[in-house]
Amino acid sequence: DFEYPHTFILVGASGDLAKKKIYPTIWYLYRDNLLPEKTKFIGYARTNQSMSDVQDKCKKYMKVRPGEEEKFKKFWEANDYLSGSYDKRVNYEFLNQTITKHEKGIIANRIFYLAVPPTVFEDVTVNIKNACVSIKGFTRVIIEKPFGRDDISSEKLSNHLAGLFKEEQIYRIDHYLGKEMVQNLMTIRFANQIFSPSWNRENIASVQISFKEPFGTEGRGGYFDDFGIIRDVMQNHLLQILSLVAMEKPVSLNPNDIRDEKVKVLRHISPIKLDDILIGQYIGNPKGQGEERLGYLDDPTVPKGSVTPTYALAALHINNARWQGVPFILRCGKALNERKAEVRIQYKDVPGDIFNGHAKRNELVIRVQPGEALYLKFMCKSPGMKFDLLETELDLTYSMRYKEADVPDAYERLILDVFTGTQMHFVRNDELKEAWRIFTPVLKLLEEQHIRPLPYEFGSRGPPEADTKLSEYDFKYSGSYKWKKPTLS
Ligand code: BG6
Repeated sequence: DFEYPHTFILVGASGDLAKKKIYPTIWYLYRDNLLPEKTKFIGYARTNQSMSDVQDKCKKYMKVRPGEEEKFKKFWEANDYLSGSYDKRVNYEFLNQTITKHEKGIIANRIFYLAVPPTVFEDVTVNIKNACVSIKGFTRVIIEKPFGRDDISSEKLSNHLAGLFKEEQIYRIDHYLGKEMVQNLMTIRFANQIFSPSWNRENIASVQISFKEPFGTEGRGGYFDDFGIIRDVMQNHLLQILSLVAMEKPVSLNPNDIRDEKVKVLRHISPIKLDDILIGQYIGNPKGQGEERLGYLDDPTVPKGSVTPTYALAALHINNARWQGVPFILRCGKALNERKAEVRIQYKDVPGDIFNGHAKRNELVIRVQPGEALYLKFMCKSPGMKFDLLETELDLTYSMRYKEADVPDAYERLILDVFTGTQMHFVRNDELKEAWRIFTPVLKLLEEQHIRPLPYEFGSRGPPEADTKLSEYDFKYSGSYKWKKPTLS
């Protein structure tokens, strides 16, 4: 298909996501010659602006290395911008004419990226369907969360979309599925005999999937307050990782075979109970600097007295033969002490101990970011004359082992997948439905009972109560070991 004309239409081209993420991403794909040669890019939004305004707004987010200036110019030449309202069909008819102008030949494909707020989502999709679908090639639609805010609203949205497009045309982005180490989970699990046989309740005590960010809502409080950290990160990014860690081996690498398994494991999870969740909200740190002095409630875009969580810890229980009794702990928070996302598989204590309790648990850690790494904490005899135990690690740090590797950004990978028609790393309708089934009841309870989140200071590790809660779920933290990021000497 790559020889035919393609048009990438960015709806919501004047927004934040467009300038910060999407324009830079399509530039990198263009720069690296990964897209079909005859690709045109058209921005569409309400704002009346020229192509050079678009360029100016995007400038500071786009990297142009020395020698790439000419190509960068060419990239912008392949771009066009059109303003129009989101709800008037005639504007979309004009958009359609603009697209058609580039579409020479018998086949031409279209990809729509919807970077628009939920309020206009229905109008936009209906109008695309009515006025802008390709009549001589494929039409694919990329959509971003929020996919509703509970089971009912999400179902409504899904039905709306299903009435307009086939599931094969819909690409629901969860950008965590585009991250290197998240994609690596399948390989680690199913291409290594050493892990497969021990990946179960006989050997594993608990699994922890965490996401930490060192900054607060930064003026995004308006959007955030309506959703909270559970909907923003846990229900999507962390649950997606969970399904890849916990699913059974798929029949093949076919995208639908994989997604069948992901849905299946989610179906074994009952809705989260109130007892299995702990929530927090950050407060200012009087000893901190700048932003750190401000709590969530000090953000002027956040309603007074809001009880929206900015931190959450939840334990999920998978009731199947492989996992029964193994807690899957999801943890996420904003305004914490560091940026980090990782999966930590903690193995059980060795039965029949002969080392006087000195052996610590094995842990397999999959570091998603920053700095991809895979390391296995394990016990070793201390080198030398003594017969002591030592906690050490087998370490695969990407920056050391794969110095030349260029790990692409999640968005780059995912948008390219849409061009090639690969849905493996996108969320299927039924996965989304299961995710909401698991989360909606507890979200409702938190809201109805107006449960107050526990305070934690900006820049801290989260509410201290979370550590106590963690130990309830068979996760042992000894504090005696800290992984050091290897550096080149
Ligand atoms: C987004 C959330 O989906 O993911 C943000 O809405 C969060 O709140 C972001 O900051 C994190 O993405 P990344 O790729 O920076 O880890």
